[in-house]
Amino acid sequence: MNVEFTGLRPQGDRLRSQILARIETALAHGKFIMGPEVRELEQQLAAFCGAKHAISVANGTDALQISLMCAGIGPGDHVLVPSFTYTATAEVILVLGASPVFVDVEPETFNLDCADLERQINAHDPDKGPLKAVIGVDLFGTPARWAQLKAIAERHGLFLVADAAQSFGARSADGSVGTLAHVTTASFFPAKPLGCYGDGGAIFTDDDELAETMRSIRVHGQGSEKYETVRVGVNSRLDTIQAAVLLAKLKVFEEELANRTALAKAYDRALGSVVETPPIPAGNGTRSAWAQYTIKVDNRDAFKTALAEAGVPSAVYYPLPMHLQPAYEAFGGGRGSLPVSEALSERVISLPMNPYWTNDDLNAVCEGVRAALSESSHWKQAS
Ligand SMILES: Cc1ncc(COP(=O)(O)O)c(C=O)c1O
Repeated sequence: MNVEFTGLRPQGDRLRSQILARIETALAHGKFIMGPEVRELEQQLAAFCGAKHAISVANGTDALQISLMCAGIGPGDHVLVPSFTYTATAEVILVLGASPVFVDVEPETFNLDCADLERQINAHDPDKGPLKAVIGVDLFGTPARWAQLKAIAERHGLFLVADAAQSFGARSADGSVGTLAHVTTASFFPAKPLGCYGDGGAIFTDDDELAETMRSIRVHGQGSEKYETVRVGVNSRLDTIQAAVLLAKLKVFEEELANRTALAKAYDRALGSVVETPPIPAGNGTRSAWAQYTIKVDNRDAFKTALAEAGVPSAVYYPLPMHLQPAYEAFGGGRGSLPVSEALSERVISLPMNPYWTNDDLNAVCEGVRAALSESSHWKQAS
């Protein structure tokens, strides 16, 4: 079996001429920074998710950092963040001189546990510095409990950021990702459900004032005049050529999202009785972006080896929670403090997610997964 972990190659083959045509146009006009494709993409991204503003930036990490900068987060401030996430979510807090407060996640959805969030808020000692914000993450593409998170954030006067690096394109019962929190950030890293051919990101908000501040921060804190600097900013513009690539890919994004959902459902049917599979959003119009299809196994190393022998690539997102990372552990409560994040880090493994598979590809992969499960003897008791 020769299986790709993502569908980037077949997607590239399918869209090659459209992408090259878009790039040719950019080469012809020569506006490589903030060219017309950047504005066009921002309009299309905002329309896609229903947000009032889309502000493109250089990557998903900058999108988070700029969001926190808008909220005035700095030294002494504390920001709540899930421990089970990608390092960038926690990193930006420290880059700004603030401190992360790590929160546990739900074992099924992998997303912020609202009860633990309340616990951490109530346990926070204000003498250490104020709690200012919460960053929630839609891990693996499925929206977190944004209605509840919003209510908690409002009750405690916290700025709420949705890290949707993995979930742009998803929808909950309350609306599309991009509209579920005060500020939402996305990543267009190549392997994301909507990815460019380099780094890219965006911020979504309905708040006019914040949007204007974000546009200023991404260009060195520029004011209304080009060489006027009204605040401290960064250089975080999305390249025109990356915008051109995204415009071509956006045309087929809906179709790819539907294929991802179909694939997740097919995985669930094939594997749901033999291994712990992720929940599939069930409400009307709800969906995950299925950045990853992540199962849980007990003997992960043996399973991963057996999968590789069967020709099925896999990945572990993430092998160590943030509160135990060498760079951040001083801010956490040590091993045992966030048990769900710790247990997940030992058990999760993501299977290939390729929206261009045929049924035969999928059947072959499911067969490989079943064989690997059997070999690593981790069959879940069918309930
Ligand atoms: C949850 C999460 N947050 C933030 C990021 C950062 O995005 P980028 O790589 O575009 O900076 C990623 C990217 O992998 C991510 O998965």
